[in-house]
This record gives sequence, C-alpha cells and structure tokens, in this order.
Amino acid sequence: MHRLTVELADRSYPIFIGQGLLGRSDLLVPYITGKQVCVVTDDTVAPLYLERLRHTLDGYKVDHVVLPTGEAYKNWATLQQIFDALLARRHDRGTTLIALGGGVIGDMTGFAAACYQRGVDFIQIPTTLLSQVDSSVGGKTGINHPAGKNMIGAFYQPKAVLIDTQSLGTLPDREISAGLAEIIKYGLIRDIAFLDWLELNMPALRALEPGAITEAIARSCAIKAEVVAVDEREGGLRAILNLGHTFGHAIEAHQGYGQWLHGEAVGAGMVMALEMSRHLGWLSDSDCQRGVAIVESAGLPTRPPTDMTSEDFIRLMAVDKKVLDGQLRLVLLRQLGEATVTADFTAAALDATLRKEYS
Ligand code: NAD
Ligand code: GLY
Repeated sequence: MHRLTVELADRSYPIFIGQGLLGRSDLLVPYITGKQVCVVTDDTVAPLYLERLRHTLDGYKVDHVVLPTGEAYKNWATLQQIFDALLARRHDRGTTLIALGGGVIGDMTGFAAACYQRGVDFIQIPTTLLSQVDSSVGGKTGINHPAGKNMIGAFYQPKAVLIDTQSLGTLPDREISAGLAEIIKYGLIRDIAFLDWLELNMPALRALEPGAITEAIARSCAIKAEVVAVDEREGGLRAILNLGHTFGHAIEAHQGYGQWLHGEAVGAGMVMALEMSRHLGWLSDSDCQRGVAIVESAGLPTRPPTDMTSEDFIRLMAVDKKVLDGQLRLVLLRQLGEATVTADFTAAALDATLRKEYS
C-alpha cells in the first residue's frame, strides 16, 4: 500500500492507495470522529460497492443516499437530496459524510459537507480512475451551473482519501481513458520523466495492469498533493492543474453535461493547448505531435466537437474561473513538462486554435 500526505498544516490528510482497501476499517475508523456516517453514492456504484463499505463500517450508524448517476445531475436539485436525507435522519454536526463514487459524487458530497450545518467532516472513496488521480484530492468541491462548469462550490478538504484500485475492475473502458487524460496532464505540466514512463506503459495502463495502474495513481496523487500544498486556493501555481480545462469545460457545457465525459473534453482541450503553444512558437512541431500522440494512445478524442464554432468557445470560455478583470488566462506549455498560466498570448494564436487550424 502507498501512503501519501497532502500537507496543509492542521488540515493535512492521508491518501491511501492499494488493492482491497474498501475492506480496511483500520484505515477508515481513525478519520470518523462521531458515531453517525452517511455514505453518498450513485445508482451505478451502489449495487457494486455500497454493501462492502457498510460491512467495513460495522459498529457505526450508517445511512446512505443514492443519487442518480452522471454529470447531468451535478446540480442544486441533486445536492438538495443529500441535505434532505441528512435532516430526515437527524444527522448532527458530528456526522461524517463518505463519498463513494466518481468525481461527480466526490464534488457534490464535499460541497454538501462544506455547507451542512456550516461544515461537517467528509472522506473520499473515489471509484473511477479520474477521481482517484484528481478530483478526490485537493478539496475542490461544487456543482455545475447551466452557464458554466463547477461555477458554484467551495474549497473544503476531506479528512482522508481511500483509493481501492480493485474498484477499477468494473469501470468501462471509456471511463479508463477519461481518467488517463488527467494522468497525462500531470506529465505534460510538471514531469517529463513521468510522460516518458506513460508512453512506455500506456498499453499496461489501459489493461489495468495492477503494478502500472498503482504507480500511475501514486505519481499523479503525489504531483497533485505537492501543488495543492503550495497553493491550496489557486492563487497562482494550482491553476496549472487546469491544462486543457478552459477549452474542455466549454466543450462539456456546449455539448450538454454528460455527453462528452470530463476526461474526454480535457483530452481534446489539452490538444488545443498543445496546438496553441505550438502556434506561439513555444513548442516545436515534434513536441506538439508527441503530446497529441500520447492523448490519442489513451483512447481520447484529439479534436473538439465538429459542431462547435470559435464563437461558441469564446462565449463559453468567458465565464472560466481563470478570467481576471475580463481577461482570459490560459494554461499553456512553455515546453513539455513545464506549464504556465498566462494572458500573454496573441489573438492570432487563440483564433487559429479555436478555428481548429491544427498541424
Ligand atoms: P463520474 O463521477 O460521472 O463517474 C463516471 C461514471 O462511472 C458514472 O457513471 C459512475 O456511476 C460510474 N462509476 C463510478 N465508479 C465506478 C466503478 N468502480 N465501476 C463502474 N462504474 C463506476 O465521473 P468522473 O470522471 O469520476 O468525474 C468527473 C467529475 O469530476 C466532473 O464533474 C469533474 O468536473 C470533476 N472533477 C473535479 C475535480 C476536483 O478537483 N474536484 C478534478 C477533476 C474532475
Ligand atoms: N483539477 C484541478 C484542481 O484540482 O485544481
């Protein structure tokens, strides 16, 4: 088992990574202070893993809320169902919420925990690859608004993150590819050696070979933990974790939440960031091609939707959270393994990218 720590002074917390951890009450119990627990999950994950978790939590008063599955339900109405259940079952301020599911469940449970009675504890048990390498770590919680992705939310850190790699065994291939998008992101923004490793290991990762997948999760979480420890509330550095996301969030909102998976939109968005960095002369043609090839090798889209115009992108990107004083800032690459958050780009480079003038 790997154990990492997100270093945030008195709010520091562990990330446990290994096979079969869902059955390890010894890893969970130290992070549950009261006797009440409410597991929040969705109607896809519940039949697979809820009973196993309930068994692990033997001795606690365990309630659960099963939400409808999918990004389309990451909204106020679904969030309200969590509050309704907590109030109906008289959960007090000593309760602990446990998110059992993908990033949608993790983001909504964390936001519910931040708000319920002005803040209760929560634990992340991510069950998708994407949530294991990204969304369960770092404390970004929230819901979507029809006008923009993740527009309503809070920074609120979990007490612990428990990653059971066995849960990936039931995940569809398309969701594995979506998770690989965020893994590739870490190599592109910060770790060229990891990118080399990913190129070599992509077939093993897509086949969920245990050694390779555990290594990829651990290295991804280590990079995320390091960045979050430096800049928890995204005053600067943390924005690099959004490589491809400004374009990707626009794709998700344009297509209708859930049509393109978040990781798929990030895959196409990272290619747009690579292409734009090439247009600016920061990346060579061959480095840009190398980045595109690794996205493609993960089974991800490398082009935005054909029905999306440059005007659609401009309109949807205007509400991005990195916009400051009306000025769009983007995460681009100075070179492979080095990202920058910048408004210092030419209109021509952005225009060429949005018009899909790729090499
Ligand atoms: P998701 O939560 O919708 O899960 C994907 C699908 O997999 C769902 O249908 C789910 O029911 C199913 N599923 C989950 N675990 C399963 C398992 N073990 N076996 C079979 N099916 C399973 O999507 P996701 O990709 O996990 O997360 C995407 C969300 O995460 C987006 O809303 C995105 O904005 C958010 N996100 C947040 C952060 C953050 O820092 N908070 C970072 C990245 C992404
Ligand atoms: N996924 C981006 C972040 O956590 O900052």
